[in-house]
Amino acid sequence: MLKVMKLSKTFQSADTKVKAVDEVSFELSDGVFATIVGKSGSGKSTLLALLGALDKATSGEIYVGGENITKMGDMKLISYRRNKIGFVFQGYNLVPNLSALENVMLPMEFAGKNHPTQVKRAKVLLAEVGIDETKSKRLPAKLSGGEQQRVAIARALANHPSLILADEPTGNLDSATGDVIIKLLKDLAKKEKTTIIAVTHDSTMSAKADQHFTMKDGKLT
Ligand SMILES: Nc1ncnc2c1ncn2[C@@H]1O[C@H](COP(=O)(O)OP(=O)(O)OP(=O)(O)O)[C@@H](O)[C@H]1O
Ligand SMILES: [Mg+2]
Repeated sequence: MLKVMKLSKTFQSADTKVKAVDEVSFELSDGVFATIVGKSGSGKSTLLALLGALDKATSGEIYVGGENITKMGDMKLISYRRNKIGFVFQGYNLVPNLSALENVMLPMEFAGKNHPTQVKRAKVLLAEVGIDETKSKRLPAKLSGGEQQRVAIARALANHPSLILADEPTGNLDSATGDVIIKLLKDLAKKEKTTIIAVTHDSTMSAKADQHFTMKDGKLT
């Protein structure tokens, strides 16, 4: 469950002031796949950075699973990012010298899970995203873009996050592969009972979402 109340982020430099996120409020239940569309510069990535606690809001509140992350101290925020949030990026961002399986195990290693638990969960997740055992042993460079993004999605789910944030997850993929990834995100939100928010320029992707938003000049509608 995600609840955002009057969230704002202003970037201030010597001569200019940009309200990148402007009093945004919305709520999403567990299991929901939501998309945000909007022009370049409308504030989409800034909003995701606030939700993922990668950046601090100027004002407003964010509740994730009942906890107000805008009130958390730095130590709690580190644990929040590690355990409650999964990130998926346009460029996959897999660790190049680790196999697909090891990439999915990595967040669990950071979270202090034991090795057998890591292997078991990573295998389940890779199967869920459609990466077979042979491919799970390969390095990212030996996988297609769509396969790498599947691995990245499995990695994002590793620690049972409350929220997954995806910035242009299909941006580097052809439209057919992108469609498959979107369907996968929607199904996984339900199956893993997590909330997934994806930013996209692609209107066919947002048409498939459970809920979709448009961002314009920092406002969300
Ligand atoms: N660190 C920063 N310092 C100053 N201004 C920033 C910073 N980050 C973003 N902005 C400004 O905030 C506004 C929103 O940027 P943001 O990156 O959120 O847009 P976006 O919707 O993700 O765009 P795109 O579709 O191009 O990725 C823009 O005007 C941008 O220039
Ligand atoms: Mg962006």
